[in-house]
Amino acid sequence: MRKTIYTIVVSLITSMIGTLALASTPTEDLKAFQQYYMDRFPDTPKSDFNNGVYSIDAAARETFESIEEFAPYEIDIEKGEELYHKPFANGGTYNDCFGEPGVRHLYPQFDSETGKIVTLESAINDCRKAAGEKKLKYKKGTIAELTAYMAYESRGNVFDIKIPNDPRALAHYNRGKRHWYSKRGQLNMACADCHWTNAGNMLRAERLGPAFGHMTHFPKYRAKWGNLGTPHRRFAGCNSQVRAKPFKAQSDEYKALEYFLTYMGNGLEANGPATRK
Ligand code: HEC
Repeated sequence: MRKTIYTIVVSLITSMIGTLALASTPTEDLKAFQQYYMDRFPDTPKSDFNNGVYSIDAAARETFESIEEFAPYEIDIEKGEELYHKPFANGGTYNDCFGEPGVRHLYPQFDSETGKIVTLESAINDCRKAAGEKKLKYKKGTIAELTAYMAYESRGNVFDIKIPNDPRALAHYNRGKRHWYSKRGQLNMACADCHWTNAGNMLRAERLGPAFGHMTHFPKYRAKWGNLGTPHRRFAGCNSQVRAKPFKAQSDEYKALEYFLTYMGNGLEANGPATRK
């Protein structure tokens, strides 16, 4: 009995702390978030955090750079370029929706008409749907080839995700933030436990990367996958690692998480696609 009350009190306090943290504005959060990683890794220049774990691991970085010289995703960029410019059956093209392919750094966006978050992947399928084309699967394959080309065309542009002063946009942001800090799964761990508290430490054979810069380089080619994957494929992998049931790719939950996490990387240059272990 006493233990139960203790558990309740602890969880109440924890949720109160969570609520307090939720009261800060996105601008305040972003400043504190980026500063934390810059203080923790003083040898990493701010602009280098878009190299993920390689921004803090000199030995792994050498291997990474030699792989990038003959990057396994080159062929996907080429395929993506062809797909992107091939007209739909109705004569339309992706450019009718996007204007130009180099828009990776502008997604996710809040759509004030629908009140929803639009990711680059969902925008591609919206574009296809409007043109009468079939939807693409969200985790890998054709959609990742398209976004590989789009990311490549976006290289060097600075991430500039907007959280407009609209309660609906803030609700998505806070949902993503809550996901990031909440413990889940049988291992009862939050994203923040690995990528914040333990950033830089080893987890078995892998070094845990800082979350500042987590979203700049998608889609990424993972050696473990042997092909390209979208952000939500990676989220699902990290949820599974702690034995939590992953959400569906492009679910509102993952869209919110991507909105929060990409916003935290505002100011970094887009550098996708990229390779990772
Ligand atoms: C048990 C520890 C652990 C937890 C919890 C965890 N991750 Fe990871 N994550 C890893 C490891 C290990 C890697 C590979 C090394 C790296 O890049 O940090 C990784 C990689 C990533 C990457 C790719 C980074 C890149 O540069 O390509 C993203 C994005 C990511 N995690 C997001 C998340 C999110 C979001 C959550 C919460 C839903 C989460 N992680 C929870 C261990 C974890």
